Amino acid sequence: MKVFVGLCLLTIAVTTPVDKKLGDHWSYAAGYEECPDWVDPAKTIPKPIEKICGGTLECPGYEDVANTNCGFGARRVAAGKWVGTNVNIRKGGQGYSEAFKRLFNYITFENEEGGRINMTAPVITKGYLNQEFDLINSTMHFFIPSDLANPPAPTSNLVYIEDWEEITVYFRVLGESSGKITEAEWEEEFTNLSAALEKSEIGYNSFLSVVGGFTDPWSQQQRTEVMLVGA
Ligand SMILES: *[C@@H]1O[C@H](CO)[C@@H](O)[C@H](O)[C@H]1NC(C)=O
Ligand SMILES: *[C@@H]1O[C@H](CO)[C@@H](O)[C@H](O)[C@H]1NC(C)=O
Ligand SMILES: *[C@@H]1O[C@H](CO)[C@@H](O)[C@H](O)[C@H]1NC(C)=O
Repeated sequence: MKVFVGLCLLTIAVTTPVDKKLGDHWSYAAGYEECPDWVDPAKTIPKPIEKICGGTLECPGYEDVANTNCGFGARRVAAGKWVGTNVNIRKGGQGYSEAFKRLFNYITFENEEGGRINMTAPVITKGYLNQEFDLINSTMHFFIPSDLANPPAPTSNLVYIEDWEEITVYFRVLGESSGKITEAEWEEEFTNLSAALEKSEIGYNSFLSVVGGFTDPWSQQQRTEVMLVGA
């Protein structure tokens, strides 16, 4: 199986044209046009959002925002309810795994009704930065299905429900699961996203980094987004 997948990837790498203008395979999958200087023919093609949201998984309502600039996509995300928990960043990767587990437990049984709540996408991880852009704390969130107007209360006091307002987010996409993305890659993606926004004179919150994990780790095609929130 691994060899087969490997061979398929090789075929794609050999036959895919390097040009990635909108309408091309990569740009279509990502949802925006890459800046010419940043085009990397080796970049893995991400799973298009249309193939995730509204299929097997519900996502918060969203609408693409018209954008003629390169290097990022823009969308308006509808208001909704989210379940959240704090990440213990001092524990590194384990802190993120523990936060995920707490949210997963909430949707499977650790809620006052003891019932199951459907998994949704994306899993959101927020990173709060200080004036020196160092990470000071982090939270993780699952979107609550829209038909649950009154979600059951969490039984864990480390888990909380929040109402999020409608926002505009700007994003760049990676076709890898978050576990495979290196520290240097995260930094480069966020740096380039902010550079592209600044070039386009778009205001954003520079002290809040957001990561959206749209696919499970076993998914054949992955979609991970780095996002900045419009000011
Ligand atoms: C980020 O920007 C730098 C400088 O323009 C460029 O060399 C690099 O390829 C870009 N990286 C990505 C992942 O687009
Ligand atoms: C949960 O997801 C399943 C499978 O996608 C779907 O059939 C079902 O209607 C969903 N349940 C609710 C309450 O939305
Ligand atoms: C994280 O830091 C921000 C900025 O100081 C603060 O607003 C927020 O309440 C903090 N969240 C947690 C979970 O500590």
